[in-house]
Amino acid sequence: MRQAEVVILGLGYIGLPTSALIASNKVQVLGVDINPAVVETINKGEIHIVEPELDKAVASAVKNGYLKAATKPVVANNYIIVVPTPFKGNYEPDISFVEAATESIIPLLKEGDLYIIESTSPVGTTEKMMNLIFSIRPELKNNIYIAYCPERVLPGNVMYELVENDRVIGGVNEASTDKAVAFYSKYVKGDLHKTNARTAEMCKLVENSSRDVQIAFANELSLICDKADINVWELIKLANKHPRVNILQPGCGVGGHCIAVDPYFIISEFPKESKIISIAREINNYKSDWCIEKIKSTALQFEIDNNRKPKIALMGLAFKPNIDDLRESPANYIVKKVLENDKNGKYFIVEPNIKEYKAFKLTDYKEALAKADVIVYLVAHKEFTDLTNGDNKIVVDFCKIS
Ligand SMILES: NC(=O)c1ccc[n+]([C@@H]2O[C@H](COP(=O)([O-])OP(=O)(O)OC[C@H]3O[C@@H](n4cnc5c(N)ncnc54)[C@H](O)[C@@H]3O)[C@@H](O)[C@H]2O)c1
Repeated sequence: MRQAEVVILGLGYIGLPTSALIASNKVQVLGVDINPAVVETINKGEIHIVEPELDKAVASAVKNGYLKAATKPVVANNYIIVVPTPFKGNYEPDISFVEAATESIIPLLKEGDLYIIESTSPVGTTEKMMNLIFSIRPELKNNIYIAYCPERVLPGNVMYELVENDRVIGGVNEASTDKAVAFYSKYVKGDLHKTNARTAEMCKLVENSSRDVQIAFANELSLICDKADINVWELIKLANKHPRVNILQPGCGVGGHCIAVDPYFIISEFPKESKIISIAREINNYKSDWCIEKIKSTALQFEIDNNRKPKIALMGLAFKPNIDDLRESPANYIVKKVLENDKNGKYFIVEPNIKEYKAFKLTDYKEALAKADVIVYLVAHKEFTDLTNGDNKIVVDFCKIS
């Protein structure tokens, strides 16, 4: 391989499409991942994740010699960190992957290099990494460029959004911001908005917290309406006829690795100040437990009325419609808990986007629908929307299927 221009650390849902995009501009990219299986797959021109158009982009970049993967970084001019930032223990952000990735390139850095973090990170992470770099390589102070640029792509549309979305770019100083903007301007058509590193870090966290708070409002309304005997879907539809009201839809909780995770990065650092953000997380988590109770009480009522336990179809496991992703999925959590609490119950678990799942036996959705007495809609997958439930079925709808 020729000298790498860009090294990207982390070849997952964001790092791999980013690598392919940059390489498709005839720029020499080395993608680094600590997982040798990932590296091997990519070097064959194949991919290990599901994302439309990514297979073609990677195959062509590898074939043309612009993209290569390795388990160790090499000397380059630009380094991008796109490793996971999960939470640990008591919902505290875990930046150990960012630290490890940064440590792996510190010996390689040289004057004039650009170091960018894209991983969703708690405020101050970029400055922390800057201090880590300078503590080991003090001669690089004021000689390299350090910036933060969060990613806001939608899985399923990544290859388009990577290019078209606006980006927020914040350096640890103005020169770093300018250098990072110049870098992204070669690959991104969306507007590039300049700020500082702390604001850019907070911007990503706030975007997802904002969604979480708005969904919490809808979920809270669903609890109130259940008690008040009002159809929440109709209520929201009517309220949204107001020209300045736009209430989101309730569901069985909030999931995914972004909206259900990122608000904790603010809460853990600013616990006293982040009251709404914190209560929104509680409401959205509580909504899943409320759904579990609702399923239980529906089953009990059926048993009282029919003198036998019901057969129950639990429809959907993914964290949102029409995907197979189970990360932080409230539906998956609900199904696990319902089964744990009712070992003798008869349940059909349905997830049309997954073929096999270790945790439960999956049933085809049409079969489950035909056999069940109670149908619980947890996720509004497209397969479910046209189904007819049958007159004698009890339907519990947490996601507005009907
Ligand atoms: N997936 C999304 O839709 C999305 C959207 C916006 C932001 N983000 C953020 O982007 C970051 C990456 O997310 P993702 O979904 O791509 O994660 P991912 O889990 O799909 O991929 C991360 C990869 O990094 C690798 N890795 C871990 N430590 C490493 C190291 N020290 N050096 C090299 N590679 C290492 C892992 O093996 C893995 O393959 C996270 O901070 C996430 O919150 C993700």
